[in-house]
Amino acid sequence: MAMTIRPAVDGDVPRLMPLMDAAIEELQEGFLDDAQIESSKAIMGIDRQLIDDGTYFVVEIDGAVAGCGGWSRRATLYGGDHSAGRNAALLDPATEPARIRAMYTHPLYARRGVGRLIIETCEAAAAAEGFATIELMATRSGRPLYEAVGFQAMEELEDDSGGAPVPLTRMLKELPLPNPRPSRRGESNRRSGAASVGPDRRPQRSSATDTPRRHHRRSSAEARRPRTRPKARTPEVDVAEFPVEPGVPGVCVATPSRRSVRRDGDRSMSFGCGRRRHYRPRLR
Ligand SMILES: CC(C)(COP(=O)(O)OP(=O)(O)OC[C@H]1O[C@@H](n2cnc3c(N)ncnc32)[C@H](O)[C@@H]1OP(=O)(O)O)[C@@H](O)C(=O)NCCC(=O)NCCS
Repeated sequence: MAMTIRPAVDGDVPRLMPLMDAAIEELQEGFLDDAQIESSKAIMGIDRQLIDDGTYFVVEIDGAVAGCGGWSRRATLYGGDHSAGRNAALLDPATEPARIRAMYTHPLYARRGVGRLIIETCEAAAAAEGFATIELMATRSGRPLYEAVGFQAMEELEDDSGGAPVPLTRMLKELPLPNPRPSRRGESNRRSGAASVGPDRRPQRSSATDTPRRHHRRSSAEARRPRTRPKARTPEVDVAEFPVEPGVPGVCVATPSRRSVRRDGDRSMSFGCGRRRHYRPRLR
């Protein structure tokens, strides 16, 4: 099975509309009753604004159109071309979540990862544009997918604009940082709630409790140097010499810096803390 994803174009619309109708009617069965499915058609369907914006995708399996869905940088949270209450205002990535929009899988291709692929593609695109969070209005049929990819329910509501009230759930997800770079401590690349988020248009969080994450960037000169601790230089002036231990060659030299050096002929070894009672010489 070869599954591919590409941006939708206007020429896809005649094939996408029957796919959406089939998804709405067949894949909502078991989640909604007949009246609710009929009513949901008023709030579902194609949104050509997304195609114009280049944020709508088509998934093909072995060359056949298997599903579609997209994201948006505009305020409308759900609905098709025909739905009431649309708002094409551009969202501010610094303060507002992007949207996941108009997700449909043809019933023949359900549960093959089409929806998941679209969401992953949308999340990456929205994160690259500077959005830190992404939001959607889930149908009952869509909710299991969104939960599976990490969205959390924020609000339950009903939309009765098509007749029978259709239950919906507003859901939100924090987006991973774009261009993930492995962390030295193996932390995930996910932004912590308090972190500032990068050099681009991503939001700079500013609450009083926020603590910026500190990154120490090594200069190019530092980077060339190996990451080893510098050797301790132990001053050996004004020292008192005493035997290491009975039977151990050399002497222990206590220095003014309270470090100890064991000296054996020409060899000299530093032992860190110079407190004699903790001194344990290394045997050769
Ligand atoms: C929602 C929808 C797009 C999901 O598409 P899909 O391509 O079948 O989803 P995926 O195959 O990517 O599912 C990924 C995961 O989501 C979960 N999931 C998806 N559909 C599910 C279902 N009906 N029941 C339980 N879990 C489901 C599963 O964890 C699944 O992983 P798995 O198959 O390995 O168990 C599709 O069901 C649909 O078109 N529904 C009708 C239209 C609709 O309501 N769209 C949503 C608008 S908000």
